[in-house]
Parts: sequence; structure tokens; C-alpha cells
Amino acid sequence: MSNNGTDHQFDLTIPAAENMVRITFEPEGRTVEFAFGTLPYDHHGLPMSFLDVAENYGIFLDHACGGVCACTTCHIHIEQGEAGLNEASEEELDRMEKAPGLQLNSRLGCQAVITRPGTYIVAIPSWNKNYVSEGKPLAMGEAK
Ligand code: FES
Repeated sequence: MSNNGTDHQFDLTIPAAENMVRITFEPEGRTVEFAFGTLPYDHHGLPMSFLDVAENYGIFLDHACGGVCACTTCHIHIEQGEAGLNEASEEELDRMEKAPGLQLNSRLGCQAVITRPGTYIVAIPSWNKNYVSEGKPLAMGEAK
């Protein structure tokens, strides 16, 4: 059992209830769970994107452009739940071509939207975590 957060009262051996969204953010193994359609929009990325969820729960997912599909710092790998997501737009696909560590299950965290209840597992690529562990970088455009 992880101790990386305060929201670990879920028994992960039991599937999430019918109307619930359960997301595990790897590699921390931090899991959050909420009723589908109840999460307030945090104004980062598309509503119900992984970035929106991460921001709601104080989970760090880099988003240098602010969640408008103009960078690749929110790059994640979808380990489970891909069928419950929106399809990547042309804009997202074009942007991802520039992302390091591109895989078949790559998405941009600000553009990948959860469209239905279910269990989702996403991984922040290790290169991104190494970057993050050195401290939260400046957002694009803030450097003086
Ligand atoms: S935060 Fe910049 S593309 Fe997602």
C-alpha cells in the first residue's frame, strides 16, 4: 500500500463502483476516485482531462503551456482505460510527434479526456519524472 497521498482508502482489488472513475498515476501509485461527472473543472487542459484531474487532486503533472496543446510536457502513457478516452485530435497527434519517449499508448495529459466511468492507469514517463524531481520548472514564457 502506498503512502504518497491522503486518498488511499480504496481497495484496489475490488473494481470501482459502476458510476465511479478510478485513476492511478504511476510511478507514484497515487490513486484517486470520484463519481463520474462530479469533478469541478480546474481550468487546466480540457475538462475531465488527466491534467484537470491531477490539478484537482494536487498531483504534479507538468503543463508548461497551461494545457492548450502547445507543448509536450504533459506527455503520459495510458496503461489502462484507453477505450474510455476521447480520440486524439489532429492537433494533439501533430504535437505528440515532437514528444520524447513517444509510444503507441502516448497521449497529452491535457487533451486525453475521460469520457466514461471506469478504471484508468496512466504513467508519467521516467524522463519527465526525472525532470520534475529537480523542481517544478518555469512555465513557458515566464523566463525573464
Ligand atoms: S500542457 Fe502543453 S500540451 Fe499539454
